[in-house]
Amino acid sequence: MRILLTGASGAIGTRLVSQLVDRGHDVIGTATSPGSAERVEALGVDTVVLDLLDRGAVRTTVLEASPDAIVHEATALADVSFARNLDTPFAETNRLRTEGTDALLAAAGESGVSRFVAQSFAGMRYERAGGPVKSEDDPLDPAPREGMREVVAALNHLERAVTAAGGIVLRYGGFYGADNDGLVAPVRKRQFPIVGDGGGVFSFVHLDDAAAATVLALEHDGPAIYNVVDDEPAPVREWLPVLARALGAKPPRRLPVWLARLFGGDVAVMLGTEARGASNDKAKRELGWRLRHPSWRKGFVEAYAGPFPTPARS
Ligand SMILES: NC(=O)c1ccc[n+]([C@@H]2O[C@H](COP(=O)([O-])OP(=O)(O)OC[C@H]3O[C@@H](n4cnc5c(N)ncnc54)[C@H](OP(=O)(O)O)[C@@H]3O)[C@@H](O)[C@H]2O)c1
Repeated sequence: MRILLTGASGAIGTRLVSQLVDRGHDVIGTATSPGSAERVEALGVDTVVLDLLDRGAVRTTVLEASPDAIVHEATALADVSFARNLDTPFAETNRLRTEGTDALLAAAGESGVSRFVAQSFAGMRYERAGGPVKSEDDPLDPAPREGMREVVAALNHLERAVTAAGGIVLRYGGFYGADNDGLVAPVRKRQFPIVGDGGGVFSFVHLDDAAAATVLALEHDGPAIYNVVDDEPAPVREWLPVLARALGAKPPRRLPVWLARLFGGDVAVMLGTEARGASNDKAKRELGWRLRHPSWRKGFVEAYAGPFPTPARS
């Protein structure tokens, strides 16, 4: 297949380029600057410089590339710091997920692109009621906390638009397996505490496994939504000490809910105490996905024990 991959220079994008090439696909990766385009070209594929927020440029790029499939993995989360309000650091990513997705889908329709796969997120999405682990059929959180409403609205928009167009949405877990993983710096600096009983459930996925599921999704008919997460959703009180140990950091601090709310706000308290995890049953069953890193428990140790890995070729 000829595949246009947005965000090819990013954390998931670089892994995906390698796995798509290994699978025999013809990849055109997008990047926002000649510098990051060079990094993608070094992986052996063609690149195009594209700002997804420039609708005209998106149209031109898609029509000229004339791909069979589009994979949308662009986010703008590198170097952002996560404050009490997630909506502010996610503002550009929210636009990539709304305006960027809409522009890509419009161009895909015009160009006759037959497959569309897009990045979404499983964490903090599901209703904070009932059991700790949710499937794709379970209700989404009907009342997201203030400070994350725009993030959630952008993800909901992307999911509706992509599935309405017959595409596939991948609700990834929290990525790990690279040196710029979002949790590495805060956990090393003991800035990520266990809040209250630490009962908020997180789902993780190793970047190599996330890329593998994405390759499989491209070969599957849509519309569909899949949780792309590992086998072991777990509460913060379990995974955070393991991650800290794997990183050689001191054990995480513990904060009572009232203090965490004061310093971190409602979103931090919700994530630490109420968040629900996600089940990967559907992705395994329908995509035939097999994980090389079924649990963060071993995965964190493997990812962080030695020198950081370079993007793997599966
Ligand atoms: N599920 C998750 O846990 C999850 C999801 C996403 C990201 N993250 C984390 O966030 C951190 C940063 O991720 P990342 O390395 O993927 O960085 P990133 O800056 O989010 O890169 C993503 C990709 O999107 C591209 N991009 C950014 N703005 C764009 C625009 N306006 N138009 C088109 N493309 C655009 C980037 O291109 P350039 O390189 O050219 O700027 C890059 O290829 C990592 O720790 C990652 O693991 C986690």
